[in-house]
Amino acid sequence: MNQERSDTLVLFGATGDLAHKKIFPALYAMVAKGTLTEPVIGVAFDAWDLKQLQARARDGIAKAIGKVDEKIFAKLASLLRYVSGDYRSAATFEKLKSALGTAQHPLHYLAVPPTMFETVIQGLEQSGAAQGARLMVEKPFGHDLQSARWLNRVLHLVFDEQSIFRIDHYLGKEAIQNLLYFRFANSFLEPIWNRNFVESVQITMAEDFGVEGRGRFYDEVGCIRDVIENHLLNILLLLAMEPPVGRSADDLIDEKVQVLRAIRTLTSDDIVRGQFKGYLSEPGVAPNSPVETFAAVRFLVDTWRWRDVPFFIRAGKCMPVHATEVIVRLKRPPLDVFDPIKPGDANHVRFRIDPQVAISIGAQRKAAGDDMIGEQVELTALDDSKGDMPPYERLIGDAMNGNGQLFTRQDASELAWRIVGPVLGDTTPPHLYEPGTWGPAEAMAGFGPPNGWINPAK
Ligand code: BG6
Repeated sequence: MNQERSDTLVLFGATGDLAHKKIFPALYAMVAKGTLTEPVIGVAFDAWDLKQLQARARDGIAKAIGKVDEKIFAKLASLLRYVSGDYRSAATFEKLKSALGTAQHPLHYLAVPPTMFETVIQGLEQSGAAQGARLMVEKPFGHDLQSARWLNRVLHLVFDEQSIFRIDHYLGKEAIQNLLYFRFANSFLEPIWNRNFVESVQITMAEDFGVEGRGRFYDEVGCIRDVIENHLLNILLLLAMEPPVGRSADDLIDEKVQVLRAIRTLTSDDIVRGQFKGYLSEPGVAPNSPVETFAAVRFLVDTWRWRDVPFFIRAGKCMPVHATEVIVRLKRPPLDVFDPIKPGDANHVRFRIDPQVAISIGAQRKAAGDDMIGEQVELTALDDSKGDMPPYERLIGDAMNGNGQLFTRQDASELAWRIVGPVLGDTTPPHLYEPGTWGPAEAMAGFGPPNGWINPAK
């Protein structure tokens, strides 16, 4: 493995949607901060010239941030190169090789569908462009255990594990970093962070929009593969893991892997699947598609710390709000010394992941007045998100520096598929729900953490 910073970024899929919406705005922000000074070679099938790629990048940046600073953009534009060609053709990689010039340690970023990974990797190898290089790959990383194993084999034919960076952009979010920091930088949490005090954990990712023109992609994936198997399971790992013994990427990932190993494989009793009414009329969606746009899932973590504490994850499109939140609910006090504490009364830690970043303690206090009657309050530390680094900026920078801490290692990628495997590809029709509701109410009755779900506020 080389420790040196990558000296060129090669972006496969440079004319695609992800590059437009997320990657170019991230590169622009890096240039603005002076953290990107290396050449960026876009590669794609489209027979464009460099000017067209620059215009596309500018458009994506303008859409993401509003006003583009021309000086900064000019710097980014001067770093850009473009290689157009078919990934199946050796000539494309010859052109890439010559565009790389004297670069010794390029980072090849595959923002292309996974079906293209093998072709691109072969092209890189045969042209010599893989030598000394790192590889960053986008999700979905396989669609089940078998395909993930196969993909890993393909990557390992050419790249060693230390040079591979599997992106889960959720791990680059400020709030997710904060979750880890808050857990292990404070000692007050540790005594209660276990099965003796925690009643349940619930993670909700609600999106108040549908599939937004991504019907074809979404219909091949569904909610479990799209966000639960990766983004939300990763949140669960950060909540459940033991403290890492050091700060290296492997120290952290080793602890996550221990949790993955201890999570029971799901069965059909652990899940409720839903589909919003109207999904079948979305362009690209198959007639009578059984794909879920909502899922609620129960995970059990068989470790000394967490045995019998249910971890619930719920995610859906067309929900009433756009918010991602974690609630760690504590067990109720053993006796009512004052007024009775009702099931579900505030007694929790709340992590707000999106759109705001906040950590709150939900508790009871005495309401003003003569009687010893309680009221529920939340003590909140709210981050105004100003200056937060967007995930793609953080992750591209980390990959260029060879820092794998926020990426998914091979064993973790395969273990996650092992856990969700049995509930994938269910062809029974999911329960329908009205857009703007919290999923299929009837099917969800009785399915959830003890004392119920807490719906995130707007
Ligand atoms: C993506 C999913 O990985 O994450 C999308 O494919 C989802 O369906 C998105 O909307 C959510 O990420 P963020 O960062 O926009 O909340």
